[in-house]
Amino acid sequence: MILDYKKLDDLSRYKVMSASVVPRPIAWIVTEDEGILNAAPFSYFIPLSSNPATIVVSIGVKEDDTPKDTLANILKTKKATICFANENNLEKLKLTATSLDKNESEIEKYEIEVKKILDDFPPMISSSKSALFCTFHSRLSLGGDTTPLILEIQQQFVCDECIDEKNHINLDNIGRVGVSFAKIVKI
Ligand SMILES: Cc1cc2nc3c(=O)[nH]c(=O)nc-3n(C[C@H](O)[C@H](O)[C@H](O)COP(=O)(O)O)c2cc1C
Repeated sequence: MILDYKKLDDLSRYKVMSASVVPRPIAWIVTEDEGILNAAPFSYFIPLSSNPATIVVSIGVKEDDTPKDTLANILKTKKATICFANENNLEKLKLTATSLDKNESEIEKYEIEVKKILDDFPPMISSSKSALFCTFHSRLSLGGDTTPLILEIQQQFVCDECIDEKNHINLDNIGRVGVSFAKIVKI
């Protein structure tokens, strides 16, 4: 069967793409604006290059067509802390996908514990075993209502038990397969 993407509506395109390009990593992004901490998950997320160390994450608009809070915050502050999720914090991650008012904090509302690692970046989610501290690099324009942002990784937190002296990292991140979540297991 050939699927002609021009003949698929938006939802069908999302369904077939997101169930085919699998698993997708999840960026659980913490941003801060005027002291309000925002957290939300994004799975249109992928590494781009190791030199410069960059990732891309595509962020859309809210129902009222205004940019999602994460997008607005990154464009304003040029900073983002990308946490990785695991099985233990999946339920909290799902809660942070709820669209709240810009001046309401998912971190406060859902009582998510965070820890400050670097003075000049938003805090990371304490239950995550690794986080990327990123600065805004550039944005792309695709002509739709989603904005791909290129972010540059400046520093990374990795829990001591997850890295050895040769920089081998062992994390138990979860990813997204269609609308479901999956553990990434090595074979
Ligand atoms: C696992 C998961 C992945 C998601 N991926 C994306 C994505 O890549 N891009 C996007 O715009 N929204 C994505 N969403 C929806 C956002 O998380 C949701 O719109 C959230 O409310 C945005 O919050 P904010 O306005 O605080 O930034 C995803 C939701 C879930 C649960």
